[in-house]
Amino acid sequence: MFVFDPYDPIVDSNPFPLYKELRDHYPCYWSEAGKVWVLSRYADVVAAASDWQTYSSLKGNLLAELPSRTGATLGTTDPPRHDRLRALVQHAFTRRNLAGLDEYLREIARTAVRSFEGRKRFDFNREFSTAMTMKTLSLIIGLPPTDENHLRRQAMLCVQTDPMVKGKTEEHERAFKWINEFAVSVIEERRARPTDDLISQFSVAEIDGDRLDEREVIMTTTMLIVAGAESMGAFMSLMAMNLADHPEALAGCVQNPDLLPDAIEESLRFNTSAQRFKRTLTRDVRMKAGDAVCLAYGSANRDERQFPDPDRYDLNRKPRGHLGFGSGVHACLGSMMARQVLRVAFEEFHKVFPRYRRAEVDLPWMPSTNFRSPTRLELVLE
Ligand code: HEM
Repeated sequence: MFVFDPYDPIVDSNPFPLYKELRDHYPCYWSEAGKVWVLSRYADVVAAASDWQTYSSLKGNLLAELPSRTGATLGTTDPPRHDRLRALVQHAFTRRNLAGLDEYLREIARTAVRSFEGRKRFDFNREFSTAMTMKTLSLIIGLPPTDENHLRRQAMLCVQTDPMVKGKTEEHERAFKWINEFAVSVIEERRARPTDDLISQFSVAEIDGDRLDEREVIMTTTMLIVAGAESMGAFMSLMAMNLADHPEALAGCVQNPDLLPDAIEESLRFNTSAQRFKRTLTRDVRMKAGDAVCLAYGSANRDERQFPDPDRYDLNRKPRGHLGFGSGVHACLGSMMARQVLRVAFEEFHKVFPRYRRAEVDLPWMPSTNFRSPTRLELVLE
């Protein structure tokens, strides 16, 4: 009998054959193990993501959610509260001139690349994705210099799940508490010495006399660290993996870096780090009010009804409407920033390392009901 258990490690390592089975035979599937309905077809996922009145985020968007987060962050509120929060935070994102960041990002990437020049093999995930992501986030959000591996590890622990527990764990609580305390210290420091980073900006952002209150500033900072660190760190590794697995696409991007934006979009479709998010039904619709529903963005992106020959990684595809950054009112706030960081990171990496391949076929994966995240990606440089 077919079973889809979002806590099963097989879903972390290769969810795609299971998604196909879901789309073809059980497009609206009750997962007893996850206590959640799973929507896997593109049209159903987009419709649900667009209908926040029915598919609410108020009980959280992680399958194993922490009650202390719900109702307090962008991803765990509905309009109108969500729209107010989003407008205040977005204000800071748009005021910042992302175009002016390219040179800083390039320097961060060059330093990371230099650190493993002369080596034949290294862990791209730890030494490049983590370093690049955490240094970039520090610069943009306004974090002080810190132990990057430790901070990314804490962000991972916030979204990592346990197949034996199936729900939130004490480890989640501890990691969130740690990042919250870290956020409080950063906010104090920024208030004492404001700069032009995001925290300095959104803690004073004002629309019609309305501002974020103290708790909202703390929760928003925590959320940006977790959302940014895990989604982007993992995605950078997944994209390197896609290119390593498709040498002709890699050669194309090396010869013509203008193809990198196409590689980013196709990678977001083919293999996004943000695979599945939760909503809760506010009324009966085939499923019952109060039931949890999983929007499987990663499956919708491989739906043959939307993307012909979906298991082919194809830089010419230009996949309009992919759900790598989600859809609807909760679509990723950091998408523009992520695209910019990824483009600069791969441009610089490819200048020094134009050919690489995976050292291992089977990768170790973080156990997570929401994210796809390799914990190691050894690359052999050729
Ligand atoms: C390639 C990297 C990234 C991917 C694949 C990604 C993916 C996503 C997805 C799928 C969602 C929708 C969640 C839902 O439906 O409930 C989302 C939301 C969000 N992302 Fe990202 N993200 C990335 C990078 C970032 C970065 C760098 C930041 C900021 C530093 C960020 C901040 C956010 C925020 C704040 C939300 C919540 C938006 C809302 O609920 O209104 N993300 N992201």
